[in-house]
Amino acid sequence: MTTASRAVASPRVVCIQDFRPLARRRLPKVVFDYLDGGAEGEVTLRENCRVFEDVTLRPRHAVAVSQCDLRTRVLGLDLALPFLLAPVGYSRLMHPGGEVAAAHAAGAVGTAYILSTISGHRLEDVKAASSGPVFYQLYLMGGRGAAEASIERARIAGFSALVVTIDTAVAGVRERDVRNGMKELISGTLFAKLPFLPQVLAKPGWLANFLVDGGVRPLPNVVVPGQGPMPLVDIGAALAAATVTWADLRWIRAAWRGPIVIKGVLTADDARHALDAGAEAIVVSNHGGRQLDGVSPSLRALPEVVAAVNGRAEVLMDGGIRRGADVVKAICLGARAVLCGRAYAYGLAAAGPAGVARALEILRVDLERTLRLLGCPSIAALDKSYVNLPDWARH
Ligand code: GLV
Repeated sequence: MTTASRAVASPRVVCIQDFRPLARRRLPKVVFDYLDGGAEGEVTLRENCRVFEDVTLRPRHAVAVSQCDLRTRVLGLDLALPFLLAPVGYSRLMHPGGEVAAAHAAGAVGTAYILSTISGHRLEDVKAASSGPVFYQLYLMGGRGAAEASIERARIAGFSALVVTIDTAVAGVRERDVRNGMKELISGTLFAKLPFLPQVLAKPGWLANFLVDGGVRPLPNVVVPGQGPMPLVDIGAALAAATVTWADLRWIRAAWRGPIVIKGVLTADDARHALDAGAEAIVVSNHGGRQLDGVSPSLRALPEVVAAVNGRAEVLMDGGIRRGADVVKAICLGARAVLCGRAYAYGLAAAGPAGVARALEILRVDLERTLRLLGCPSIAALDKSYVNLPDWARH
């Protein structure tokens, strides 16, 4: 066992929440809060997790389930587990291994990794790091030329699907980022950075890794034609330049001939737009509570979208997944699979590759135990009969 794996072994890390204080200890406040925080009053951020408590489980006892089948299929791909790794921006700031480490860990457990446009490692390297499928999440920052170039690179590198995030008309105000000076630290002058530097200097271990890794680097996957890789910008500037419309989906559809996943759907209307735009899958998502605060928690929006889609596309969801039981509840409410973001990113921040591997292991073991306690032999057999539905889930 390596030192990093020991640092996240039981009993130090027993559940996903246990990574959080470890991540907080390792990261400068500005990076931890970027990962941990949400928009405005963080109501949706909190509700994303809490809402799972509204759904209770209905086990079938005294049935022997000696082996559980955790497999599922997403976009025709066989996954060993019904959770994928969500795109997480700036992962390389959390740990130099960043997206490469996360993709490797996802492949090692037989699931898919979704690479954010706001990534620190080249998309080709991320694809090469994983033995499993990798999807590319597209923001239009850098303009159409940059997007078309990255779509082409993703195709050549062998990415399996394109994920288009539609909930970024502007960036949500993540108040912690503003207070911590995320913008100044990433793209400000030295003078503008000065007031915010103590939080970075307070974490010499992180700082040493960051400097050895090359410091603030441009975005290798946003290459503006004739200009080269776009300089790293803070999340506000990145998302403000990333707005996508249904009209854009037409040229995106023409540029990417593989499956398209539309992420950020919360209503039946948008689900229908996504189907009209040719989406093969939809992710019910509020961007981890990071965009419009006060929208429904994702689980609560799921039944409306599942009903509207009515089997015409696959429905995934993200937001608030911390335990195997959360995955089970989302699937019982109609999701084919879920995406987890913070659940593995806390692990990445706490201990790099070993942290991601441990997070995925925790979720896998949790999921298997939950199924066995439910008396359910497989993910495929999960349905509404395994849960008590709250009123909001009756569609
Ligand atoms: C990146 O997409 C973020 O929301 O921080």
